[in-house]
Amino acid sequence: MEKHYAVIGDPIEHSYSPGMHNAGYNYLGIDAVYHRFHVHPAHLAEAVNGLCALGFAGWNVTLPHKESIIAYLDILTPQARRAGAVNTVKIHEGKKIGHNTDGDGFVCSIEGDLQSLAGKKAVLLGAGGASKGIALALAERGMHIHILNRTPEKAMDLARFVQRQGGKGSTGSFEPGDWLKDVDLLVQTTSLGLHGEPFPFTLAGISEQALVVDIIVNARETAFVQEARKQGCRTLDGVGMLLYQGALAWEFWLGGQAPLEAMRKGLKDQLLQKMFYKG
Ligand code: ATR
Repeated sequence: MEKHYAVIGDPIEHSYSPGMHNAGYNYLGIDAVYHRFHVHPAHLAEAVNGLCALGFAGWNVTLPHKESIIAYLDILTPQARRAGAVNTVKIHEGKKIGHNTDGDGFVCSIEGDLQSLAGKKAVLLGAGGASKGIALALAERGMHIHILNRTPEKAMDLARFVQRQGGKGSTGSFEPGDWLKDVDLLVQTTSLGLHGEPFPFTLAGISEQALVVDIIVNARETAFVQEARKQGCRTLDGVGMLLYQGALAWEFWLGGQAPLEAMRKGLKDQLLQKMFYKG
């Protein structure tokens, strides 16, 4: 019988997940369809009941529902419990299981470029939900997490959260500083650059060995990635994180190995289309 999956969020039009998952189903000949649904926060409970009533096998959850959906679930995996956020739900024997693949997806996306994370230094720009998931996953692997955020209180809250989970966390100002000299991994998690905005500071003096990642997924390179490349750093965009969080969700739902290359192509095709048709 045909299986149904979905992503729910508000807004949702921009989501690349349907194209990515459906490309994977087509490639492997799996009888499944992945949908995209706009769910207003006031209708989250009805949406969850509706998805269950319609027999959906699972769904992804994106902003702004990653935390609020927890109230409607039966079981949380350790990853979801630690992050206090859910991006993947699976229906198993009638129970709604909440899982989180964001942090592990990020780690998978950098593993080819940065081995043995333990003892190395990560600097995260931003202290929102995306930063929190990444901070936890990196701290669990023994990295020191230094958080820089426009609103310093939020950086301090996140550093304390990392410390409470047994990790090493510290904070600094959202500006260039001594941190540039010994950073191993620099991750841009703010929304700056989503709409082509310039990046507000230079990365001059950044350590030669640094891997620089912008988690924004866009057809065009962000100003932040351009600046890092200008300074001679290795860079990655957000496609890898999106791909691997999707692949881990696929494996949580269906077992086996997700068809990574087919999913990557599904994603890239959408980005190309966006570049040609929407500019
Ligand atoms: P997400 O869950 O996607 O991380 P979020 O929780 O809204 O989204 O967090 C957005 C992040 O981008 C925050 O760290 C925010 O900084 P503040 O805490 O100071 O608001 C950051 N951000 C958004 N616009 C920014 C800007 N123009 N300059 C610097 N940081 C910005």
